[in-house]
Amino acid sequence: MDFKLRKVNALSGTIEIPADKSITHRAIMLASIASGKSIIRNYLNSDDCNRTIEVFRQMGAEIKVEKKDLYITGVGLNIPQPKRDRYEFYAGNSGTTSRLLSGILSGQNFKSVITGDQSLSKRPMSGVVIPLLQMGANIFLNKGSLPMEITGSLCLKSVNYVSDKANAQVKSAVLLAGLYAGGSTTYLEPIKSRDHTERMLKLFGINVEVNGNSVTINPIKKLLPQEIFVPGDMSSAAFFIAAALIIPGSNLTIKNIGINPTRDGLIEVLKQMGADITLTNLREISNEPICDITVKYSKLSSININADIIPRMIDEIPIFVLVATQAEGITRISGTKELRVKESDRISAIASQFKKLGAQVEALEDGFIVNGSSNVFLTGTLLDSFEDHRVAMTLAIASLIAKGETIIRDSSCVNISFPGFYEVLKSICK
Ligand code: S3P
Repeated sequence: MDFKLRKVNALSGTIEIPADKSITHRAIMLASIASGKSIIRNYLNSDDCNRTIEVFRQMGAEIKVEKKDLYITGVGLNIPQPKRDRYEFYAGNSGTTSRLLSGILSGQNFKSVITGDQSLSKRPMSGVVIPLLQMGANIFLNKGSLPMEITGSLCLKSVNYVSDKANAQVKSAVLLAGLYAGGSTTYLEPIKSRDHTERMLKLFGINVEVNGNSVTINPIKKLLPQEIFVPGDMSSAAFFIAAALIIPGSNLTIKNIGINPTRDGLIEVLKQMGADITLTNLREISNEPICDITVKYSKLSSININADIIPRMIDEIPIFVLVATQAEGITRISGTKELRVKESDRISAIASQFKKLGAQVEALEDGFIVNGSSNVFLTGTLLDSFEDHRVAMTLAIASLIAKGETIIRDSSCVNISFPGFYEVLKSICK
């Protein structure tokens, strides 16, 4: 499906946006291997999370959907045997489903295979496999990518794994495999990646010790079922935060957004650039901080950002590049090599499409140089989303400040993380 958008005058109103994708995946997984009935309130009903639901239904978890909630009866840590010789799971476009799942499957007494769509089948999987092999699982990949064939082990070895990258999916897979290890498992990373797994494991009764960038878990016999509330997704809110900042006259409030300190890099950087952003109603639900965010149109200045902050805003870099095109001066972004292996090569996708719009954006191997100005005028044209949800939404926001009409190809990929994106956008355009 193609989507057509035009320049708007301003954005205003109060909105709620869909729930956090990372937290929803983890809640479905932990509830499915808990012993008993859990409730996941306000889950993200998106293509990616629905893949995780299907995978755990295949393994016998009972998952009922009632409006915005999931009622899950878990099967316990030891998942029932497959009816045939092995389980076959399809993760679609979802990196989080495939990588986190591999940790749980490593501790099972059966064989399984994980496949994915064209994009996921090209993405690197060895980062997650290396520590799981060390723990004693038997895993085969096809040239470093899916399909992943796993023969699990009932007695995984506990490890003390030192990672050279901040990568939450690898960390989570190791911690989940650690639930099945003979002793405690420690994971150390150079910069802290998102910590939703650690926070949620605590809720489910696991003893989690966090010491700087190191996390240690100790296995127990069963996970205790929980009632979890999933906050709005900061990575989805980012599109509206950016839009309100760069469209003159805008004033927007986004309610109930997760403001976990491992996910708030965009807010910090935008404030340093001069953004008028206020956080109110700060509170904690299900061991995650949450707040309302009010954003007003602001004159912004350029900034340099590097690897130190990138893990806290990795998924927001595409929309951040758009903001940088409207900030006075040259913005340099480095340390984002990981973007080359996301749902698309986001560095080349963003640079190529922004050039078509008339912005001055140069792609680097690991980032961007953006020559910005609030007087830069973008011009609408035909753009390609590369079937990447975050690229599609970034281009949609760019088109709101572009002259004339913009057409975005394959725009329905927004359903991966943000069903209803275009409707929410329409509701606040003046
Ligand atoms: C995610 C972690 C991040 C992020 C991805 C979701 C997660 O990737 O980009 O969209 O839910 O753990 P990394 O594994 O590279 O940190």
